[in-house]
Amino acid sequence: MSTLEQSVQLEDALVETLLSAATAAPSIHNSQPWSFAVRGTSVDLYADPDRQLRSSDSSGRSLLISCGAALLNLRVAATSLGYYPRVRVLPDQGEPTLVARVELGTVHGRPGLLGELAPYITARRTNRMPFSDRLIPSTAIARLSEAVEAEGAILRVYDEPDEVDRIVALMHDADFEETDNPVRVAERALWVDAGRERDGIPAQSLGPVPDRTEVPFRDLAPRTVPPAPDRPLARFERTPTVAVLSTLLDAPSDWVRAGQALERMLLVATSFGLASSFLNQALEHVDLRWLVRSPMTGYGHSQMLMRIGYGPEVPPTPRRPLSEVVRPSVRVPGSS
Ligand SMILES: Cc1cc2nc3c(=O)[nH]c(=O)nc-3n(C[C@H](O)[C@H](O)[C@H](O)COP(=O)(O)O)c2cc1C
Repeated sequence: MSTLEQSVQLEDALVETLLSAATAAPSIHNSQPWSFAVRGTSVDLYADPDRQLRSSDSSGRSLLISCGAALLNLRVAATSLGYYPRVRVLPDQGEPTLVARVELGTVHGRPGLLGELAPYITARRTNRMPFSDRLIPSTAIARLSEAVEAEGAILRVYDEPDEVDRIVALMHDADFEETDNPVRVAERALWVDAGRERDGIPAQSLGPVPDRTEVPFRDLAPRTVPPAPDRPLARFERTPTVAVLSTLLDAPSDWVRAGQALERMLLVATSFGLASSFLNQALEHVDLRWLVRSPMTGYGHSQMLMRIGYGPEVPPTPRRPLSEVVRPSVRVPGSS
């Protein structure tokens, strides 16, 4: 067993490694809603409310899930380098944007198992391409569930056609509600295929347009009819493997927990060569979010809906440089 020896003073190179890992995390619309402050022996992770999607994420749930994913990557990177990260989530009631304080200690003994996921941080991507018919081995599904449970959340994975159809119907209801909501449509247009260079979702990451409407796929840019020439039509799997990640409670700390569980699961999926994309639109509507829950999706509060499978390689999405996410009052790695 490892014992904590002492806290370590954070050097520039170490900070750069930790923050590069954290900022490679997935985030809602690639909004990268985070910033960091490095103080002595700890890294503080803040949510950036200026990057919150005020209309589709008014509670800040997706904002904190995104920050939770960044926190998990930071823990993985620290553990892979042999440090022991002591994490306090939402440590200061007076400062609700302070999502987590991570203090690094050195350890005796083996680095934690979490560190073995480090090679998959940059390999992980959201994959909006059709997936193949290849079956996912039950051992891989068991590992995904273990990863989620290790973070205190719940995962249900299934490919039961009736249940998938039920989810697809809810997704369509959500799409329908959304086209009727010009504020949400305008908000999404700011982030998706919006010509942004350091954040947002570029056109080449949108994937093809499904050739039928009744498929479980979230088209984030359905507004061009006919589809833009660089987005061909494609046949998506009719009954994909769907995964629902839930938490027992639904407080801000549970959203941070969900984000950590999500990213741990996605890294394990990547290690098995599995791809995933998100089908979250029903979760962005309070009434429909309740309807996602069923005996099949499991108890608790649904936080993320995903399809998983084997897909072709896809390009990475951009990230902001570290100089933009490190709070100005503190050191920027590499600066004198
Ligand atoms: C909380 C959260 C919600 C997301 N919801 C969706 C979604 O509904 N549809 C989708 O295609 N991608 C969704 N994504 C994926 C992001 O768009 C993606 O992480 C981001 O564009 C960065 O790309 P990458 O994951 O390839 O690094 C979500 C990600 C997070 C963290």
